[in-house]
Amino acid sequence: MRKTLRTSVVMALCCITVTAYAYTTEQAEKGKQIFAKQCAECHGAGGEGGVVPDEYSDYAGMKVPPVVGKGYLPHMKTAGNVYAFIKSHMPLQAPGSLSSEDALNVVAFDLMANGVKADGQALTAESAKKIMLHGK
Ligand code: HEC
Repeated sequence: MRKTLRTSVVMALCCITVTAYAYTTEQAEKGKQIFAKQCAECHGAGGEGGVVPDEYSDYAGMKVPPVVGKGYLPHMKTAGNVYAFIKSHMPLQAPGSLSSEDALNVVAFDLMANGVKADGQALTAESAKKIMLHGK
């Protein structure tokens, strides 16, 4: 009995270490604000995707992929991909305008919105590369 208990404690510790790459709720909360202000207009209030609205004349009508929920982030494999893509391509009309910190905050929000739990460790450009999306 004792032995079994100890084994499960050891196993639990090992698994926590393996999955210890996430983000802080503070990052996700900041990211949520940025998303609402700078991304939701095209990506949808809930991140469900859609079409670029008319006021972005040059880009109007372009299909916008979902970043949350069904079919989310269709072209991204890791959270690191998302970070790099946001840094160089988003928001569409002003690419490169987000600081590295804000880009990480938005990625943290996106992880939260897709059900990845915050583990209290800050998401960094390096740790993001280790977070696999789509359960792969
Ligand atoms: C003016 C409209 C617009 C705004 C604002 C915008 N996006 Fe996008 N976003 C797009 C479009 C269109 C695409 C698809 C681009 C393509 O296919 O090359 C896209 C693609 C993406 C992708 C790639 C998803 C995938 O897997 O293909 C991510 C991530 C993303 N946007 C994040 C953001 C974030 C974060 C913000 C806010 C900081 C933002 N976007 C603001 C229109 C927008």
